[in-house]
Amino acid sequence: MPQIFRVHGGSTLNGDISVGGSKNAALPLLCATLLTKDPVTLHNLPDIQDIRYTLNILEHLGSKITKIGNHSWTIDNAHIQSHTINTDLASKFRGSLIFMGSLLSRFRETILPYPGGCVIGKRPIDSHLFVAKKMGAKITENETGLRFTVKKLKGTTLIMPEVSVTATENAILLAVMAEGTTELRMVAQEPHVVDLCELLTKMGADIQGAGTHTIIIRGVKKLHGAEHSITPDYLEAAALITAGIITRGEVTVENFIPRQLDAMFVKLDEIGIKYKRYDDRVTVYPTKIFHAPSRIEARPHPGFPTDILAPFATILTQCHGMTKVFETLFEGRLGFLFELEKMGAKVEILNPHQALVIGPTKLKGTSVSSLDLRAGATMVLAGLIAQGTTEVNNIHYIDRGYEKLEEKLNSLGAKIERVTS
Ligand code: EPZ
Repeated sequence: MPQIFRVHGGSTLNGDISVGGSKNAALPLLCATLLTKDPVTLHNLPDIQDIRYTLNILEHLGSKITKIGNHSWTIDNAHIQSHTINTDLASKFRGSLIFMGSLLSRFRETILPYPGGCVIGKRPIDSHLFVAKKMGAKITENETGLRFTVKKLKGTTLIMPEVSVTATENAILLAVMAEGTTELRMVAQEPHVVDLCELLTKMGADIQGAGTHTIIIRGVKKLHGAEHSITPDYLEAAALITAGIITRGEVTVENFIPRQLDAMFVKLDEIGIKYKRYDDRVTVYPTKIFHAPSRIEARPHPGFPTDILAPFATILTQCHGMTKVFETLFEGRLGFLFELEKMGAKVEILNPHQALVIGPTKLKGTSVSSLDLRAGATMVLAGLIAQGTTEVNNIHYIDRGYEKLEEKLNSLGAKIERVTS
């Protein structure tokens, strides 16, 4: 049955809240477990829908998956029988693309159904095909998906056709047991790419340069089991920090790595937000006047993350002045601004990638849609400061990327009900 969030506006949030494990790290790290027949233990695995889908895909392949604690799992891939991922599950989210690298590396063959995911725009997969071909794979297409085969993965110098997170992750997964050395250039530097390299190194891979635009990988014969705690989700942290800021409370968001959000703190300084930053947490304090930053552009890491642009826009609606927002990635992502407009926000969409947000405006509760997982979280945040009650529908999107978002916000004083409509 579809569920909605009923958000009662007007609360000031106060208190401490802890961040969970990163969704966008958990996905490639679970795929990496396929590269060894030894058990791999992962801690801080977020309990969200995309991770449940990923665990289901592994089980369909023959993984033995054991929950050993809250957010801790052991994945044993000694007896994987199949190299083809389940079409229904793969079509539910785009992250399933990351199985290509590990299955092709282990079996020299895999069949990948066309991936699913959010409707935030055309998401070509040609970078993934480019990477596989450069490493020696042959690719044939049929109506259900793509068949990759390779005699032997060979190290090479590979200049990424675009700074792509998941294509970088697939390149790394293909290179760690390829013959010879692979030099990957123009790779993504996101924290989840670094976390993947950290797990693979613990498993015996030889990787230099993680977190820079050039990664050198010397292929090894075999990888062994390991134990690893998944990096905290800086995207969830950003949403929780935003909730404290817009409700003008005193909120400490802990157990994450603030330096992964440097680009966001630069904007908070421009706005004049009072906060104190530590190595593993940040405390925001009530700030009277918000000054509109002139522009915010989504950029690959360490630039301003596209995945926090939507939640951050709730701050912009309360800023004095006008901000030009530039969503450089997804042509469908700015749709959330129309939902904010329904609540009284003053926005002007200039084109599929650029918009103006003018503030401050009083938001009013109404019924709004979650257009994708980040837009859904944005609607909940906007509801916190709206007059009256805001009904947010399609919250299955939100559950894909945020673990019990309403429970975390309610623990700080929000009033959000999860209702089966
Ligand atoms: C990954 O998607 C993430 N998904 C997305 O998170 C995220 O939005 C995206 O990276 C960008 O950070 C997972 O990790 C599972 P791309 P991916 O190939 O790999 C350009 C979420 O909400 N670009 O990295 O499919 C980039 O150079 C999801 O958790 C910009 O122009 O995306 C490449 O050409 C949605 N500006 C293209 O876009 C940016 O700010 C696609 O990026 C970022 C990227």
